[in-house]
Amino acid sequence: MKKTLSILFGISILFFTTGCEKKENVDEAKITYKLTTAQVYEQMCVKCHGKNGEGNTKKKGPALNDQTIQELRLGITDIKMGGSGVNSSGTEHEVMEHNMKKIIEKGMDYDTDLMAKYIYDNFNINKK
Ligand code: HEC
Repeated sequence: MKKTLSILFGISILFFTTGCEKKENVDEAKITYKLTTAQVYEQMCVKCHGKNGEGNTKKKGPALNDQTIQELRLGITDIKMGGSGVNSSGTEHEVMEHNMKKIIEKGMDYDTDLMAKYIYDNFNINKK
């Protein structure tokens, strides 16, 4: 009985790890989001990161308007993966992680690439 269990456990681990590796193939574009990226930013991100991504010291939200699109994408992916992703930058995102769960519970999911692009295109101050 124990043996069967451990084999099952082994198999599920296998599935889990291969599942993680394949995550990049999951086509996020196929997911239909309830709100546009702009709406999600307005409703979920503004209060801590500011209307123009300038940050909000009261909420300890860092400015996002000086980050490159790569930095943003990494940060956002990290947050969505709960900081434990394969490509995790290893930054602390405790506040954001907590926040992310709420966001998803409310059905306010968003595409990480689109969010990075949205923030960069609209707010970046170093863009030429
Ligand atoms: C409750 C306040 C709060 C809300 C709401 C919030 N953030 Fe954050 N965010 C933070 C804090 C605090 C940090 C820095 C510490 C951390 O990561 O937990 C952060 C960090 C980040 C970072 C990484 C910045 C860096 O310098 O590494 C990105 C990117 C980011 N947030 C994007 C977003 C997006 C996109 C949303 C909306 C979906 C959002 N945040 C909503 C508080 C918030």
